[in-house]
Amino acid sequence: MSQTLKIPNHIAIVMDGNGRWARAKNRPRFMGHKKGVDAVRDIVKECGRLNVKSLSLFAFSSENWKRPEEEIKHLMGLFMLALDREAKAMARNNVRLKIVGDLSAFSEKLQDKIKYVEKLTENSTGLNLIVAANYGGRWDITQAAQKLAKLIESGDKTSVSITEDDITKQLTTTEFPDPDLFIRTGGEKRISNFMIWQMAYAELHFTDELWPDFNAESLNVAIQDYSSRQRRFGKTSEQVIAEEEKNND
Ligand code: IPE
Ligand code: IPE
Ligand code: MG
Repeated sequence: MSQTLKIPNHIAIVMDGNGRWARAKNRPRFMGHKKGVDAVRDIVKECGRLNVKSLSLFAFSSENWKRPEEEIKHLMGLFMLALDREAKAMARNNVRLKIVGDLSAFSEKLQDKIKYVEKLTENSTGLNLIVAANYGGRWDITQAAQKLAKLIESGDKTSVSITEDDITKQLTTTEFPDPDLFIRTGGEKRISNFMIWQMAYAELHFTDELWPDFNAESLNVAIQDYSSRQRRFGKTSEQVIAEEEKNND
């Protein structure tokens, strides 16, 4: 068996623990989110260095609207600020930004900013940075079902002909391959409605580290963990080893 490190094509991260990070330092929760943006910058850089093709970050879930209004306001402000500050650096560093989620809930100003940064970085050929904002996995599948239903209504499709691939094609992440590695910081062991369809076969890595403390080294630990897994996709271990040996010939 090969000992070389396998780099995942697509990493998806639930960046959790900002609030607890701040609370542990007797600071307001907002400071944790602010520090969390610095961690994003470091991880994007490291993914670029490692030649990871796509990185998906869960920034705001469809369930996060239940938080205190003050915190939501801070988060929106921070999102706007980060887009403003990082747009040019992303373009310069060949990063392509794509925001997924129900953006209609955001202010006009924020929606315009999102469109602007997506346009500015659309020709980048390096890392795809997918930021999930007002995103929920169930929302994504629901909007895909609505689009398929429309195709049926217009006579372009029949209900019996619907395949898994048809559903995948209507998801907001359809242009990117499924995540290979899922990371959640902050100690909780749950998916919290992230890309549930897309992560059907992702390798899961959980760490107690709080998101503001997560750094390049932590990412490399997660990748090493991923690299040590045998991905079988339903096959037997022997089949996978035989295939790997054949590919190494
Ligand atoms: C994750 O950190 C960031 C968002 C959900 C926006 P949290 O804010 O959930 O931090 P904890 O879980 O309360 O520590
Ligand atoms: C998940 O974190 C969403 C984001 C990181 C944006 P939460 O902290 O909201 O998750 P739960 O509600 O504790 O599962
Ligand atoms: Mg949390």
